[in-house]
This record gives sequence, structure tokens and C-alpha cells, in this order.
Amino acid sequence: MQNINIDFATKQDELFIRKNVELTSEFFNKKLKYNEIFVAKVEDKQVGFLIFDYLWSEVPFMASIWIYPNFRKKGIGKSMLNYFEQYLSDNNYSMLFSSSMENAKEAQAWHKHMCFKECGFISEINDDNTGEVFFRKSL
Ligand SMILES: CC(C)(COP(=O)(O)OP(=O)(O)OC[C@H]1O[C@@H](n2cnc3c(N)ncnc32)[C@H](O)[C@@H]1OP(=O)(O)O)[C@@H](O)C(=O)NCCC(=O)NCCS
Repeated sequence: MQNINIDFATKQDELFIRKNVELTSEFFNKKLKYNEIFVAKVEDKQVGFLIFDYLWSEVPFMASIWIYPNFRKKGIGKSMLNYFEQYLSDNNYSMLFSSSMENAKEAQAWHKHMCFKECGFISEINDDNTGEVFFRKSL
């Protein structure tokens, strides 16, 4: 898809993001302050976001990536991931971690398609008692 614009989120993106992921306003503001959310826009409308953290304050972890359903499978998730990876490489990071719920088979297949390698599992970590599958990718 052409004309995808990806950049750090701003306060104007709060409604779109908080409607689609569990995040308090306080936590959203913190993530904004530290530039840890990217937003993708098509024709000036938000279509996706990527939120990240740093494990042990130094290892990048993609906490969530979400594309508006009507815009899935059009290359936006891949564009966001590529943009994020370039940002990390530019800042001298060489490894990225991510995860997916145990039963989210589509998300797991997408990670593998994006060249993530499965690297671990934590059981019963989610609210519904399901586990979480972890992935890593060298940059
Ligand atoms: C997973 C998600 C982010 C993917 O984003 P997307 O914009 O739909 O994916 P893209 O169109 O960029 O796909 C990129 C590539 O992955 C492939 N792909 C897309 N969905 C896939 C899937 N479910 N399984 C395997 N491959 C997939 C595409 O065919 C494409 O392949 P190509 O580059 O070889 O042509 C999106 O479907 C989504 O928001 N899902 C709900 C939230 C979620 O599960 N997030 C991940 C866990 S946090």
C-alpha cells in the first residue's frame, strides 16, 4: 500500500490507541514522553500502532503491534516493523524481542513470516491463564 506515513505518536493519537489496547492515560503519557509508540497513518487517518519497551532497560521488546482490521494484509504491519527495526539499528540495538499469546496462532505465524525465531514460553502469565510465546530477531 502506498502513502503510509509512520512516526512517533502524539497526544492526538491517544483516543485511537487507547480504544484498541488496554493502556491507562497516565501510562500512555509516559510512553509518549519517552517516544515509545509509533503510529501509521494513511491519508492522515490512523490505521495502526506499535508500542515498545526495553527489557532490563536495554533490550528492545515489541509490546504490541495492531493494525485496523480493514487495513490488515496490505503491508502496513511489515512497514511499521521495518521502520521500528531501522530506528533500533540507527540507535545501535542489535536484537529485538516480541511475544504473542499462546492461542494467537495468526500472530505467531506473522512473527515467523517476519523472520522472528521462537525463543521461549511463559505459562499462565495472561489474565485468562494462557501462556505467552516469545520471539527474537537479530537486527
Ligand atoms: C499481525 C498484524 C500486526 C500483521 O499486520 P498486517 O499489516 O496485517 O501484515 P502485513 O500485511 O504487513 O504482512 C506482512 C507479511 O506477512 C504476511 N502475513 C500477514 N498476516 C499473516 C499471518 N497471519 N500469518 C502469516 N503471514 C502473514 C503477509 O502475507 C506479508 O507477506 P509478504 O511480505 O511476504 O508479502 C495484524 O494482522 C494485526 O494487527 N493483528 C491483530 C493484532 C495482533 O495479533 N498483533 C500481534 C501480536 S502483538
